[in-house]
Formats: sequence, structure tokens, C-alpha cells
Amino acid sequence: MPAKAIITIFGASGDLAKRKLYPALFRLFKTGKLADNFAVIGASRRPWSKEEYEAVVLESIQDLVTDPSQAQDFAARFYYQSHDVTSTLDYQNIRELQSQLNDRYRADNNKLFFLSMSPRFFGTIAKHLKSENIIDGLGFEHLIIEKPFGSDLESACQLNEELMDSFREDQIFRIDHYLGKEMVENIYAIRFANPIIDRIWDRHSIHNIQITLAEQLGVEERGDYYDQSGALRDMVQNHALQILSLLTMDKPHSFSKHDIRAEKVKVFQSLKKPGPKELANDFVRGQYTANQDLPGYREEPKVNPDSMTETYFAGVFFLDSDRFRNIPIFIRTGKRLAEKATRVDIVFKQEETIFAEDLEPNILTLYIQPEEGISFQFNQKIPGYDFTIQPQAISSFDRPEGPEGYEKLIFEALQSNSSNFSHWHEVKASWKLIDKIEHSWQEDQSPLHLYPAGSHGPEAADQLLAQFDAKWIW
Ligand code: BG6
Repeated sequence: MPAKAIITIFGASGDLAKRKLYPALFRLFKTGKLADNFAVIGASRRPWSKEEYEAVVLESIQDLVTDPSQAQDFAARFYYQSHDVTSTLDYQNIRELQSQLNDRYRADNNKLFFLSMSPRFFGTIAKHLKSENIIDGLGFEHLIIEKPFGSDLESACQLNEELMDSFREDQIFRIDHYLGKEMVENIYAIRFANPIIDRIWDRHSIHNIQITLAEQLGVEERGDYYDQSGALRDMVQNHALQILSLLTMDKPHSFSKHDIRAEKVKVFQSLKKPGPKELANDFVRGQYTANQDLPGYREEPKVNPDSMTETYFAGVFFLDSDRFRNIPIFIRTGKRLAEKATRVDIVFKQEETIFAEDLEPNILTLYIQPEEGISFQFNQKIPGYDFTIQPQAISSFDRPEGPEGYEKLIFEALQSNSSNFSHWHEVKASWKLIDKIEHSWQEDQSPLHLYPAGSHGPEAADQLLAQFDAKWIW
């Protein structure tokens, strides 16, 4: 059944709305997941008319249009409200428009609010949505918010309290767009739809896990945000730890949002907090320097020329769980690395075999992006008179293209399915951990390793793994 709702986007003129949200909504429209019973209110400061707004929407979906009349029909459902986030009157106008559109499009009073703007406005908007009765308890009322959810534990708690004055936890959908990626969701299937894999997915069989989120691009135009954030907050606190939780959670009782969340939350809460020794040894921070025609981080626009912000992070995490106790889980992410590669390598334990030589371990690799697939490395005899064993991989990359991340996540929020969104308990636990590492860096307890743009990152990251008798697979 197509979803029914009036969708209000705060930040309607912003980059995210144009690049991701309008195309995602159009894809849902094309596949019939949104049909007759929806309309969109775009709210932003600019004084646009409905016609101007429709033109913006049409431009942002132009690459996806196959039937111009379908695109016109889609754009006609977009209504614009010039909006100042602190003006009570502007919220009253939104309420009025929402009520009219609800009647016109028979949306069953369902409301989806998308906050696609600076996080400093999240609290104010949520407060006004309640005080101006835009949320009225009729139909579903869901709030999707973009990252970052706070910049440390304190600011995240404060933001959460502000939101909770107006919305319940089950109405808040904290987006982590990595959870909308097909191969990330596929982790559930790989682990729980294959009994043989399920059986070996623990500390008895796994030697270490490697999560890599490598980017080839630099900070682009986001120097001002990134210089305050750095790789640890930008990529690890959310995306990397979410992937870690899917990889290491216990098997949920069922594939329902409640059971999945319960297991994920347990993982976040069982992440071991590093002590002084671990803080000095287990986390590597790096920053890219100029190389050939690529500028160094400190030369990027809007970046402090003396910046100590890390553009690279590598670290080891441990869980206090029966399944994974003492198994190192390595996370690595960085900007301006040799190539874009988001992947997970599960390295299995190698034991003594009947063969004289040391053999390579079995490795299961999940390729998340840009290529999507899976491969398994195992040892085989090479054809010939000698009995020579070599590792070889069997792989499968033949996957049909799935829906795009935002498309899937918006659809799930419209279905009230929060499995692929971050729960407050997850966010809170992750900040507790990240804050510890951030604080130790602020006190300068570990060096900032420089690495040339376009390389594989600092050597210190290789030394980190060597301490655990491991090496990076990629
Ligand atoms: C965002 C970060 O959350 O994820 C960016 O803020 C990063 O710095 C981006 O580039 C990476 O996303 P993707 O989907 O391109 O891997």
C-alpha cells in the first residue's frame, strides 16, 4: 500500500534536500510507494513562490525523469512556506497549510518532519511543532533528523532532552545513511540466514574484524564543519560503530524492530571503555599533507592553518560480550586515501593443519561500496605434480541495483519501521566512548601522524595491528 503522509522538510532550499531528499521522494513516487496520498511542505528562509519551489524540485530530479508528465505531477505536490525557525507565526502558517493539504490529499493526519538543517535549530523546531499544535496526536507523527546528533555526550543529551519535550523515542528517527546501504543491511541476511555462518560467528572462530571506511575525496567545501568535527566524530561515532553493532550483535529473537534494537543497544553498552594505557596505544590519528597536485588538509578552504583535527582514524575496540570477548575489532577511516573503499574483512583463526607450511587464514569480505559484493578466501591446491596450497577467493558481485539509501530510509520511516535508525541508547553509549578518545587527544596524549594525500594512511595504523598479531587485509 502506498504511504499516506504530509511530509514537511525544514531546510528545503539546502544542499541535502536537493541532492538527496527530492530524488529519493521521486524514486518512491516512481515505484508507487508514494502515490496519491502525499504532499510535501518545504520550509526555508528564502522567499520562494510555489512555482519557484517546483522548479527547484524538478531540477533536482532531472536525471531520473523518464516521463515529463509524471515529474510535473510529482512537483505539483510540493508547497513552499518561507520560514524563520524562531517565528511563531510561521509555524502557525505551516499548521494551516498542513491541515489543508491533509484534507486535499487524504493523508490520514500522518505527518513526517524532516530536519535537514543546522543541528542548532533542531530543539527550537521540535518545541514549536508542539507548542503550535502542528503535532496534534492524530495519525503518526515522525521526526527524521540528520546527523550530527550532538558533538559530544553533553550536547547530545541536551539535544535529546529538547526533542523529548515534544516527541517520544519511538517517533524520533535518527538517520545514519550507512544503515540504508544495501550491503550493510545484508549483514543481517549473511549472518542469520546462513546457519553455517551463524555457527562460526564468534570468538572461537574469528581472529579479528576489520571495518574500513576509506574515502578518496578531501573535505571539499565543508572545511568549517569538518575542522570542528574530525574523522572520529564524523565517521566513527555513527557509521563505523553502527556497522560494528550489526556485525557483533547476538542473534535477535526475531527480525522485528524491537528485537533488533534490543540486541544492538546491548552491543553499544558492552563496548569496553579504554583506560589510560589503551588511550595511549590503541588509537591512531592522522592528517593528510599535500601530495603532487592535491592540497594538504591545512591548505583546504575554511580550515585553520594550524589545525590539529584528524582526517584519519584507526583504532581497536573490544566488547564485553560472551560472543566476542577479547576479539579485536579494528576500525579505520580517512579522507584523501588512495581510493574509496567501504568494506568489512572478517579474519578467521588459523590453526595448525596437517601441512607443513603456514597457511593463510580464511577471510570473509563484505564489499559495501563502491562495488557491492562478498568474497570468501580459502586455501586450495594449485593444479600440478607438487602439492602446493594457495589462498583463493570465491566471490559474488552480481547483485541487482537496490534502492538508494535515503529512499529506503524515508520509506521505512513512513512505515514506522525504526530498525535502521539509531536509538538514543546507542547514540548515548557511543558518545561516552568517543568522548574518552577525544579528551585524551585534546590533552595531546598521542601524536598526530601526517600522511600524504592519496596514500593508504599513516604507518602507525599498521603497527597498531601488528600488536594484535594481525595485518590489514586491504
Ligand atoms: C557523511 C560524512 O556522514 O558521510 C562525510 O559527514 C562523508 O564526511 C560521508 O564523506 C560518506 O558517505 P558515503 O555514503 O559517501 O560513504
